[in-house]
Amino acid sequence: MRECKGVHWKPQEREPRMSALTDSPAWRDLAAHQREIAHTQMRDLFAADPARARRYSVEAGALYLDYSRHLANDKTLGLLFALALQAGVAADIERMTAGDPVNGSEGRPALHVALRTDEQRFPPRGTDVMPAVRSARERTYAFAESLRAGRVRGATGQPIGNVVNLGVGGSDLGPRLLAGAMRRESNSGLKLRFVANADPYDLEAALGGLEPASTLFIVASKTFTTVETLSNARRARAWLAAALGDAPELSSHFAAVTANTENAQAWGVSTERVFPFWDWVGGRFSLWSSVGLPAVIAAGPVQFDALLSGARDMDAHFREAPPERNMPLIMALLSVWYSAFFGAQTHAVLPYAEDLREFPAWVQQLHMESNGKRVDREGHAVDYPTAPVIWGATGTLSQHAFHQLLHQGTRLVPADFIVPIASDGDAAAHRLLVTNALAQGSALMTGAAAAEPHRVLPGNRPSSTLLLDRLAPRTLGQLLALYEHKVTAEAALLNINPFDQWGVEFGKGVARSLEGGPGAAAPDASTVALLKRLDRATG
Ligand code: F6P
Repeated sequence: MRECKGVHWKPQEREPRMSALTDSPAWRDLAAHQREIAHTQMRDLFAADPARARRYSVEAGALYLDYSRHLANDKTLGLLFALALQAGVAADIERMTAGDPVNGSEGRPALHVALRTDEQRFPPRGTDVMPAVRSARERTYAFAESLRAGRVRGATGQPIGNVVNLGVGGSDLGPRLLAGAMRRESNSGLKLRFVANADPYDLEAALGGLEPASTLFIVASKTFTTVETLSNARRARAWLAAALGDAPELSSHFAAVTANTENAQAWGVSTERVFPFWDWVGGRFSLWSSVGLPAVIAAGPVQFDALLSGARDMDAHFREAPPERNMPLIMALLSVWYSAFFGAQTHAVLPYAEDLREFPAWVQQLHMESNGKRVDREGHAVDYPTAPVIWGATGTLSQHAFHQLLHQGTRLVPADFIVPIASDGDAAAHRLLVTNALAQGSALMTGAAAAEPHRVLPGNRPSSTLLLDRLAPRTLGQLLALYEHKVTAEAALLNINPFDQWGVEFGKGVARSLEGGPGAAAPDASTVALLKRLDRATG
């Protein structure tokens, strides 16, 4: 049985050949180095190099990453960059942005960069997608401007004053994140709400206090087949029909954001209300597309353009910065360093900004749905850990929820502190927020000695501190694109495909079979017994 940190596989006769990555020179060198550095104290690294804080930092646009509080010295970085070189990360970046079918299992390119590029023609190789991108953006912006101007009317002629986004996963997390993070730029006067769950109480809560005659629903679904979203859309239509009568005019209360225009029109969305995106945009990479419509409605096209320009800044940085100055690559290398060589099972994302409260959930899908894989790009079972479990919450709340475990628990949990360094809010309160973030990162590293064992903080716990000039659409675009590129860089390092998600497709099928869908396989005995209790409870 081959073992590596924290991960154990018993190769089965049917498993394909194990991946060769862990036998590679760069990987072996890092494994040997980990044993050398495992007991090094970060404070000794700082004592040995007074310039460490400056040297272990990198800037990109309005972002500043301090990665000095990590179990890494110059040799570590050199070996990590050697892994990146061996993995051909630069070539992967070039292939992705050139339009090659980097999503191997689905034979598709991954062109979310096209959604924010200012190139006339893109990608360099393959079909030019920019005419379609520009057309969809123009239509999305025009519709948002009409809504903001009160020119969109419902079946009874009343102007639309409420917008409810019905979507899940990438069709929810991105727009929901943008709506919160661009709250201070939002000036539409429209009520904006989000529904994602199959739970009927989710739609019920969102509709509370809304007038049907002035409510518009955006049915956001790339495939336009997601059962939760279609269930919510059906029930939203029933809510409208109950109040306004079931007439064709109800279509004036709907818009669709989808890559499946045919399904949307068949469902009853009028052609001019379908705002497309495409198969070559992964759902978790799609907020830059028409999926971002709620944010355009809330904050307007100018602010959304600022978001896109921030992402463009980061795209250029990722493409052009040398490895040792490349922020996404450095973050990806550190993720692999702890996950694959220290056995860290999770990674905490801690935005110290309440308007970024949806950021951890968005990164969860982005990172875990992209890199939560078990075979490499050649289809071989991997014998190394892939994505860590991503979790987190906003600071300072997190300090009163789980920082105890970070400081005195038995687990290694690398953390990202994300901190807007300036704010238009109360200066004293903002300073309190920022100093708390910096204090937490410091305490994780320095620890605290004490006579009583229960008061000892071991310290030497790694974290990065990412400063944003301030939270604004452009820096937000830089931040989100940074994490997208971190994830794709990590996938290149691990030789996995970050753009498919076959694991969740299966789960959807099981749910359908439990609903008695076609070809329903007999469920397991536990599920049969639980279904019987459900049937008894619901008669
Ligand atoms: O979670 C699986 C998934 O396919 C995600 O990748 C996607 O963002 C989500 O479901 C919603 O899919 P759709 O946008 O097609 O409704």
